[in-house]
Amino acid sequence: MKWEVPLFDLDFDAAEEKAVLSVIRSGWLTQGEHVAQFESAFAERVGVRFACAVSSCTAGLHVVAHALGLGPGDEVILPSLTFVATASTIVQTGATPVFADVESADRPLLDPADVERKITSRTRAVIVAHYAGHPCDMTRLVEVARRHDLELIEDCAHAPLAVCEGRKVGTFGVAGAFSFFSNKNLTTGEGGMVVTDDAGLAQRIALLRSHAMTHQTLDRHRGHAFDYDVVELGFNYRFDEIRAAIGMVQLGKLKANNARRAECAARYRQLLADLDWIQIPFQATAPRSRAVHHIFPIVLADGAPPRQYLMQSLRKKGIQTSIHYRPIHDLSFYRERYPTPDEKLPQTMALAPRLLTLPLYPALTPAQQTKVVEGLRKAQADAP
Ligand SMILES: Cc1ncc(COP(=O)(O)O)c(C=O)c1O
Repeated sequence: MKWEVPLFDLDFDAAEEKAVLSVIRSGWLTQGEHVAQFESAFAERVGVRFACAVSSCTAGLHVVAHALGLGPGDEVILPSLTFVATASTIVQTGATPVFADVESADRPLLDPADVERKITSRTRAVIVAHYAGHPCDMTRLVEVARRHDLELIEDCAHAPLAVCEGRKVGTFGVAGAFSFFSNKNLTTGEGGMVVTDDAGLAQRIALLRSHAMTHQTLDRHRGHAFDYDVVELGFNYRFDEIRAAIGMVQLGKLKANNARRAECAARYRQLLADLDWIQIPFQATAPRSRAVHHIFPIVLADGAPPRQYLMQSLRKKGIQTSIHYRPIHDLSFYRERYPTPDEKLPQTMALAPRLLTLPLYPALTPAQQTKVVEGLRKAQADAP
């Protein structure tokens, strides 16, 4: 179906096309100089010493958890209100995910107080997720992690260039992982980036992402190496040259596109202000902080029609909406394997059934936003 207002839209033009063509014509497609160039540019933009491109954010989270030695017997605290990859990558290592609550309906971000409540003698790490592009309370989360000697990992899939108290997200924990999936603020179709200031960790991740081989295919192609050794059990989590070339163009657009997203978010706030059955989270921004508005979730309050009805009504008008997220602990696999009583996550469980994500992307026009809001208004007025 062709949406009149899709949930997200790409910002691709002749610059990305030219970048792809130039790689194709270069004769080398797998990890090489474009990847290295993209890594340096990304590291500089985020303000970290090292960036290591990987095949997805999921691969990035997994390789970080693996490199930190997380495994059976370890517990890792993370939000339930996030994408499943935040938890599945921990399960892949053999460690146990422990779900923590979000602060409130206004700040649906990992609650430092609940993280602290969920720490046991087995806890080894905490993963934060900067939901919707809004930075978590990193000052308190870093303090809790330090006091309990825990590794802190940042899932930055929603938040490239988001700032918390003057520092970019991804620079607070031992490592941060970004996603370049299609709908992300910076996209290459698939892809991800791990950032860290830890030279040893960066080196290990670079090794692990390519089978833990001591020499890469490009070295051999150029005649710089004739054989290789494998020094531990590795993965194929490599990024490639075509995506890296697209990534460079997208990185150049990121600041302006994040600013456009912020303008669209501000316009939604104005347009939705008189709908008292809709609550808009993230009313206040922390000092010296900046959100990057990956998605625009609203919360259906008293007087709102059922969520499914609203989504159907908007769909009939060509408006695509979504839900971010069904809490992870509520998904069948996690309910069976890691049962977590809903009462342990009261904010998440009160909020999740009322969340609805509206369309948001840099080229969203004021007329499209008006259509979305009028669609909501009419649906509520006509609700049975
Ligand atoms: C919060 C979060 N973490 C991780 C991921 C996984 O990213 P990828 O698709 O690059 O593996 C996503 C993707 O949507 C996400 O939203």
